[in-house]
Amino acid sequence: MSKIPLLGTGLNGLVGSKFVADFGDIYDFTNLDLRHSQQPTDITNQQQVYTALNNSSAKFVVHMAAYTDVTGAFQQTGDQTAPCYQINVKGTENLVRACNATDKHLIHLSTAYVFDGEKKEAYKETDSTNPIEWYGQTKALAEEVVMKDAKTWTILRIDQPFRNDIFPKVDTLHRIIEGMRSDQLHPQFTDHHFGPTYINDFVKIIDLVIRQRMIGLYHASSGESWTDYEFAKAVNNILQLDFEVRRGSLAKYLKTSRRPYQKNTALNIDKLKKFLDFKPRSIKQAIGETIL
Ligand SMILES: NC(=O)c1ccc[n+]([C@@H]2O[C@H](COP(=O)([O-])OP(=O)(O)OC[C@H]3O[C@@H](n4cnc5c(N)ncnc54)[C@H](OP(=O)(O)O)[C@@H]3O)[C@@H](O)[C@H]2O)c1
Repeated sequence: MSKIPLLGTGLNGLVGSKFVADFGDIYDFTNLDLRHSQQPTDITNQQQVYTALNNSSAKFVVHMAAYTDVTGAFQQTGDQTAPCYQINVKGTENLVRACNATDKHLIHLSTAYVFDGEKKEAYKETDSTNPIEWYGQTKALAEEVVMKDAKTWTILRIDQPFRNDIFPKVDTLHRIIEGMRSDQLHPQFTDHHFGPTYINDFVKIIDLVIRQRMIGLYHASSGESWTDYEFAKAVNNILQLDFEVRRGSLAKYLKTSRRPYQKNTALNIDKLKKFLDFKPRSIKQAIGETIL
C-alpha cells in the first residue's frame, strides 16, 4: 500500500520525532524545518511556508513546531519581535494562511498552559482560556488565529508530554529519573496538579484525527491528574530506583519565583474518548514501559 503524504512542522522535536518513528510505514512525511537539506523552511517566513505547502499533495499539515522553553519565553514577555511570539503566533498565522490557500487541513498542537490553573478539577474544552505567562499567551493567541481564520482545523491540547525512550530534550519523566540518579531531585510539589501525556499513545491520536477526519478542539492528554510528588513516587516505585522522594510546596516556591506557574493543568478528555478506537495506557503502565 502506498504511503499517505503528510506535511508536518516540528517533526524533529520531542513529540514530532516519535510520530515519525512510529508512523513511518503509513505516512510519507515532509518536515517543514530549518534543518531540511534541500528545502529549509522557517515557519516565520510566509513565502517559504506557502511554497512548501503548494509543492505538496498532502491534505493535512500537523503543526508541532513551537518555541517551547517556558522560562525563556517569560524573559521575552510582551516582545512581539522575539522568537517566542514570532514562532508561536506569526508561524501559526503563516501556516493558517498557506493551508487556506492550498486547501489543507491544519492539525495544531497546543497546551494546557492556555489556562490560568486556578480550576480545582480537570479543564474541559468549554472552559475559558486565561494564560498567566508569555508562552501560554502566545499559544492562546495561536489557537485564536486557528479557530478564527483557518478554513478547516483541529486543535489538540496536551500537558507535560513524556515518552518511554531517551530523547535529547529531557521530558517530565526523564527529568525525574535523572534527578534521582544524580541524587539531585528537588522536593516535589504536593500542591501542583498536572495531566501527563504519554507521547507513545498521543501519536496514535494524531493518526486517529487524520483517519477519522476529526475537526475542532480536543484535550488529548492521558486524562489523568497527578501531583509532582505522587508522580515522582510512582516513577521511583515502578522503576525501583530506590530514592526517597521529598515533599515540596508550589505555594512556597511561588513566593521566590518571578515566573508564575499554573497550579493545575490537568485536562478532561471525555470528548476525545468517544472517538478512541484503541486503549491508551494508564500513566502507571506508561511509566512501566520506560527504557532505562
Ligand atoms: N514539551 C512540552 O512540555 C509541551 C507541553 C504542551 C504542549 N506542547 C506543544 O507540543 C508541540 C510539540 O512540542 P515539543 O516539545 O515536541 O517541541 P520541541 O521538542 O521543543 O521541538 C520544537 C520544534 O519546533 C521546530 N521549530 C522551532 N522554530 C522553528 C522555525 N522557525 N521554523 C521551523 N521549525 C521550527 C524545531 O525545529 P529544530 O529541531 O530544527 O530546532 C523543533 O523541531 C508544541 O506545539 C508545543 O507547544 C509541548
